[in-house]
Amino acid sequence: MNSFPFLGFGVGLRRPHYAEVIETSPRMDWFELTTENFMVAGGRPIEVIGGVREHYPIAMHGVSLSIGSTDPINRDYLHNLAAMARRFEPVWISDHLCWTGVGGRNLHDLMPLPYTEEALLHVARRIREVQDVLGRRILIENVSSYMSFASSTLTEWEFLAAVAEEADCAILLDINNVFVNAFNHGFDAARYIESIPVERVQQFHLAGHQDHGKYLLDTHDHPVREEVWGLYEHALRRFGAVSTSIEWDDRIPEFRELQAIAEEARYRHDLTVRGTARQDVDVSR
Ligand SMILES: [Fe+2]
Repeated sequence: MNSFPFLGFGVGLRRPHYAEVIETSPRMDWFELTTENFMVAGGRPIEVIGGVREHYPIAMHGVSLSIGSTDPINRDYLHNLAAMARRFEPVWISDHLCWTGVGGRNLHDLMPLPYTEEALLHVARRIREVQDVLGRRILIENVSSYMSFASSTLTEWEFLAAVAEEADCAILLDINNVFVNAFNHGFDAARYIESIPVERVQQFHLAGHQDHGKYLLDTHDHPVREEVWGLYEHALRRFGAVSTSIEWDDRIPEFRELQAIAEEARYRHDLTVRGTARQDVDVSR
C-alpha cells in the first residue's frame, strides 16, 4: 500500500459533458481535466473549471510537457502550469513519459523514448526541474507505443521505475497502455505490473483500444476490454486502493456510460481490495 490520497473513481472531463456536469452535479468521485484545454486567461474554460471545482476534486493531466525531449523545457508553459495550479488547486498534476517534439516542432503525439541509462538520467533531471518550479511532485504516465528503439538496454518497466526513483516523482500507471504495449511488443503485462514499485503508483488510467489483429491501437474510443479489466484487478491486488480514472477521447458517449465504467471500476476494486462490493450499485451497461 502507498500513502497517496485515494480519490476513488473518476473520469476525464470532456467538452460534450461540461454543461451536464456543472448543471446537474452527477455522481462521480473526481474529475481529471486535460490541462491544455484550460490554459487560457478567461472565458468559458475558466467558468467550467471553476464550476467543476466547486463540487469535485480535480487533477490536471497534461500532454505538452515533452519531458523526454532534448529541447529546453518550455518555461512559458511551465509557468502557466504553475499559475493554473495556484489558481485551481488540483489534487495533483500529471503528464507523460514521452517526448512530443524536437527542434521547436510539435508532433502532437506522445512519442516513446529509448530505454537507456542516458535517457533516464536526462528525463529524471528534467522532471526534478519541473517539480522545483511547481513546488510539488508530479506524476508521470507510461505511454502506448508501436515501435521501439534498437538502442534500448532496459525494459519499459525498468525504465519507468528507474525514472520515478531517480526523479523522486510518482507514477500514473495506465493499465490499458501496459496491455497494449505487452501485445505490440510481445512482453508479459503481469510482469510489468509486478515490477513497478508500489510506493510510487498514485493513479491508474483505464481506457479502451482498437484491435487491429497484428497490433492494438490506443484510441480511447471503446469500452474497457475484459482482458484490461483483468489486468486492472491484477494491479489492484498488488497496489491496493489507487485513484482511478477512465479516459474516453473519441466518439465520446453519453456521460452515464462513463459513470457506468467508473462504477464498474469501483465494483472490481471493492471486490478485489476489500473482498466485498455493494450490491446496490448497478454496473450493467
Ligand atoms: Fe492514459
